[in-house]
Amino acid sequence: MEFRDVLQQRHSVRAFSDKPVSEALLTELLEQATRGAPSWSNTQPYQIAIARGPVLESLREELPPRFDKLVALQRAPMLSKVMAWLRKDGVPDGDFRPVVDYPADLQPRRVATGRELYRLLGIGREDRQARHEQMSDNFRFFNAPVALFIFIHEGLGVYSALDAGIFLQSLMLAATDAGLGSCAQGALALWRSPLEQHFQLPGHYKLLCGISLGYEADKTINRFQPEKLPLADLLIAPR
Ligand SMILES: Cc1cc2nc3c(=O)[nH]c(=O)nc-3n(C[C@H](O)[C@H](O)[C@H](O)COP(=O)(O)O)c2cc1C
Repeated sequence: MEFRDVLQQRHSVRAFSDKPVSEALLTELLEQATRGAPSWSNTQPYQIAIARGPVLESLREELPPRFDKLVALQRAPMLSKVMAWLRKDGVPDGDFRPVVDYPADLQPRRVATGRELYRLLGIGREDRQARHEQMSDNFRFFNAPVALFIFIHEGLGVYSALDAGIFLQSLMLAATDAGLGSCAQGALALWRSPLEQHFQLPGHYKLLCGISLGYEADKTINRFQPEKLPLADLLIAPR
């Protein structure tokens, strides 16, 4: 593909087909991203856990009930919250604090994007159950055959996250070029413990986000194209 078409066509895919992704193709995409991504002093301060096959199926079973519990907990009385926290039941154990309250100037952008998505899907404002189902789909990896979990070295702070972001976008563009779809998912960083069961996670690498990868399904949700800001809104005015 022409590079400008790759940029134009990459979008977040939230419904994948059953078509598998071969190991050779996945390796090729990861190698392309590794080659193309710059990083702080070339340190490449990130590591990737690849979940597919039985590992992915096991996570697909484990994560949605955790999310159900978390949502139920958010609406529960304080005492239940405290008990759940003590039992570590349903409470996130990711490495970074989840974003709950958005900064006031960013919140409208978030709300507008969510509103557009639910409008496209025909889900009403009050339909909590349908919204919950849609959110839960994050934890089923939108039916993708591959999920990747990105960990960043704690020692470089924000620069590790910067480098991982560049790597992530390189990977997503390589995937688009190869005819695959992807969705970066902060939601997949809510829990670290389920991953400990399947991977030898180094303690000094912290879970930043996940990404689902596969072939796009022909579903309405994949037609979602959230508006991007006019460039002028991103530019800082000169004095
Ligand atoms: C770091 C990061 C985390 C994200 N987390 C999620 C997520 O948890 N669930 C989801 O459906 N989309 C997630 N997204 C996708 C964004 O919602 C999406 O990129 C944004 O709405 C713009 O749409 P586009 O990717 O189609 O251009 C995430 C994107 C990024 C870069």
